[in-house]
Amino acid sequence: MLVLGVESSCDETSVAVVRDGKEVLSNVILSQIDIHKKFGGVVPEVASRHHVYQVAMVFDEAFKKALVKPEDIDVVAVTEGPGLIGSLLVGVNAAKTFALVFDKPLIGVHHLAGHIYANAIEHEMKFPAIALLVSGGNTELIYMRDHFKFEILGETHDDAVGESYDKVARVVGLPYPGGPAVDKLAHEGKVTYNLPKPYVDGYNFSFSGLKSAVINLNHNLEQRHEEVNKEDLCASFQDSVSEVLVNKTFKAAREYKVKQIIVAGGVSANKGLKERFMAENKDGFEICIPSIRYCTDNAAMIAVAGYYQWQLCPEKRSLDMNADSSLELESK
Ligand code: KG4
Repeated sequence: MLVLGVESSCDETSVAVVRDGKEVLSNVILSQIDIHKKFGGVVPEVASRHHVYQVAMVFDEAFKKALVKPEDIDVVAVTEGPGLIGSLLVGVNAAKTFALVFDKPLIGVHHLAGHIYANAIEHEMKFPAIALLVSGGNTELIYMRDHFKFEILGETHDDAVGESYDKVARVVGLPYPGGPAVDKLAHEGKVTYNLPKPYVDGYNFSFSGLKSAVINLNHNLEQRHEEVNKEDLCASFQDSVSEVLVNKTFKAAREYKVKQIIVAGGVSANKGLKERFMAENKDGFEICIPSIRYCTDNAAMIAVAGYYQWQLCPEKRSLDMNADSSLELESK
């Protein structure tokens, strides 16, 4: 079965063709990072305009690379939310138009389900599972007793992990998006700064206090005309973040006696986080983290989630679907 995936929830325009939920025939991603870099973050109106300019070209490129024709597609899967509404609307309308013109069924996929199902490309998903979802807009710990059964155990009270990485990067003068740059510097430094480890209630998270601690530390050092050691600051920040994420994930995995831990979303590309998961896996859990190209936003993950959703959630097939910027991940 050939699924066409379409993703445009933030600043990546992406279209993919995936066979049988596994074989990625094409996964074209046109990133707007260079455009938003000068603003230090994504500007929603600019993002939606660029999706409009480039979406048709990305569709064409995805078909060329996959060596298939539009008529060969069986199902169209598109990110329906959550995300920036102007950006989502471009992908949803492009997917609807394609589905209407070529008379194909259309399904709306939750963006976070897409991140989780990115793992199905390279691993066999096993249930029950715990998914740690860490991206620029989300930080959630999710229990999955089976395919498409999502129970949110905890989430961030304030900033998402990726968002705090981007902020810390800005404070120490690193470019947007900050995650990869902070990760790199962290590996060149030592944990010398005493930063808080934000353990809040249960399986929830909170990163705004840690972010403020980094900002204040930097500010105080500047006022004393002392130089901040950027490498050490990044290492200390990354140590606090990864300790909390890893400990809470293992705690949930033990409590729910899972067969697999899935780490997903843009921050799952973080080397420090991966290393810590592997180093502290005393109970021998199977830990699945996608390859970097499937960690950040891409349409292959939407096509894969769509492939499973097509078979398991028939009620979600409709041309009437709409973009929804605050779509909830349904707990079933
Ligand atoms: O999943 P994603 O591409 O977009 C959202 O749906 O949010 O995630 C983007 C986020 C950004 O905040 C970026 O700084 C972060 O993922 N990120 C990283 C790394 N690579 C990307 N954060 C930490 N370490 C990385 N290596």
